[in-house]
Amino acid sequence: MAAPKPLNYWDYIRVEELLTLQRGLAKSDTEISNDEVMFITVHQVFELWFKLLLRELATARDLFKGEHVAEQELSGAVRSLKRMTAIFRVANKHWEVMETLTTREYLGFRDKLMGASGFQSAQLRQVEILFGLDDATRIPLGAESSYVSALRSHDAKPSPALARVQKSLADTPTFKDAIDAWLFRTPIDGVGPNGKKSERELERFVARFNACYERVVEGTAARALSITPAKADKARLAERYESEKKALAVFLAADGDARKSRVRCAMLFIETYRELPLLAWPREVLDAIVELEQHFVIFRQRHARMVERIIGRRTGTGGSAGVDYLDKTALEYRIFRDLWAVRTLQIPRAAAPELERGAFYAFKSG
Ligand code: HEM
Repeated sequence: MAAPKPLNYWDYIRVEELLTLQRGLAKSDTEISNDEVMFITVHQVFELWFKLLLRELATARDLFKGEHVAEQELSGAVRSLKRMTAIFRVANKHWEVMETLTTREYLGFRDKLMGASGFQSAQLRQVEILFGLDDATRIPLGAESSYVSALRSHDAKPSPALARVQKSLADTPTFKDAIDAWLFRTPIDGVGPNGKKSERELERFVARFNACYERVVEGTAARALSITPAKADKARLAERYESEKKALAVFLAADGDARKSRVRCAMLFIETYRELPLLAWPREVLDAIVELEQHFVIFRQRHARMVERIIGRRTGTGGSAGVDYLDKTALEYRIFRDLWAVRTLQIPRAAAPELERGAFYAFKSG
C-alpha cells in the first residue's frame, strides 16, 4: 500500500479560502474598515457555531427517535447536549467582541445593511425548529408576515435560507417530540403506558404524590406564616401558598390531555427517584436539556443587551421593534417549559411517596 501523502494544515482547514470571506460587498480587504470586518467575522463565527449545534441536536434527536432507546445510548445523548451547551457558553462571550463597536462607528455602515438582519439566519431558525419551537409561539416580526417569508430573497425568489428552513420543517420528529415520546414510555412505579393496569397505577401515583406534595407545602406555609408578623402580609402569603398547594394537581392533570399528563408524571418521577440505577441517566438527560435551554435563553438575552448598547431602541434592519422584539423572544421562545415547571413542584426525596416495584429500576444482568 502506498504511504499516505503528508497533508498541509492550510489545505485541510482551507484557510486561504476562509480568509477571503470577510469583505462583505467590498472587492478587497483594503476597501473595508476594521469595524466592518469584525462585524462580518463575528456573524460568521456564530453561523459556524450554529452549524455544529444543528449537527449535535440532530444526533441527539436521532437517538431518541426510535421505539426503544437503549440505556447505553443515553450517555451519548448527554455528551451531545453538553457540547451544545459548551458552544452556547463560548458563543455568549463573543458578544463582547461586537460590543467594541460604538454606536457612531456602526451607524457609519449600518445603512448598507437595510433589509439584511440576523432575522434571516436560517441556521438559527433550523436550530429552533429541530429543538421543537412551534410556529404558534412565534412573535410576528412587523415588516414581514412570518419568519418563513422573511427568508425569501428581496426579489421574492426562493433562497438557500428558505430551502434550509423548509427542509428542517419537514424533518420530524423534533427533539422535543422525540423526548416526549420517550418520557411517555417511561414506566412509572414500574408500570408502562400500555398495560391493563397502566391508567389505574398512574392515577394512584398522582394521588399519592399529590398528598405528599400538599403536606410539604402546608409545612412550608406554616413555617413562613409563623415568622410573618403583619396581618396583611400573612393574608397575602397564605393566599400564595394556597395556590401553590393546588399547583401540582393542576400541572399533572394537563387540562385532561392524558398523554401530556403521563409525560409530566414521568418527568417528576425521574427527578424524584433519580438515584435508582435505571433512572440515573434519564435524569442526566433531563438536566442537560434544562442546562442547554438555559444557555439558549442567555444567548437571546445577551444579544438583546448588546443590541441595546449599540443601537438603543431603534427599529431593526430587519424591520422589527428591535430590542423590544428580542426581549420578547427571550421570554417567550421556551421549548421545555414543563421540565422547568417540575423544578417548582419537586419535593425532598424523604417527603416523597414510597417507591413501588423499585426492583424494576435495578440494573439487570445478562
Ligand atoms: C451590531 C451588531 C448587531 C445588531 C445591532 C443586531 C441587531 C438585531 C436586531 C435589531 C434584531 C431584530 C430583527 C431586526 O429587526 O433586524 C436582530 C435579530 C437577530 N440577530 Fe442580531 N444584531 C447584531 C449582531 C448579531 C450577531 C453577531 C448575530 C450572530 C449570528 C446576530 C444574530 C441575530 C439573530 C439570529 C436574530 C434573530 C433573532 C430572532 O428572531 O429570534 N445578531 N439583531
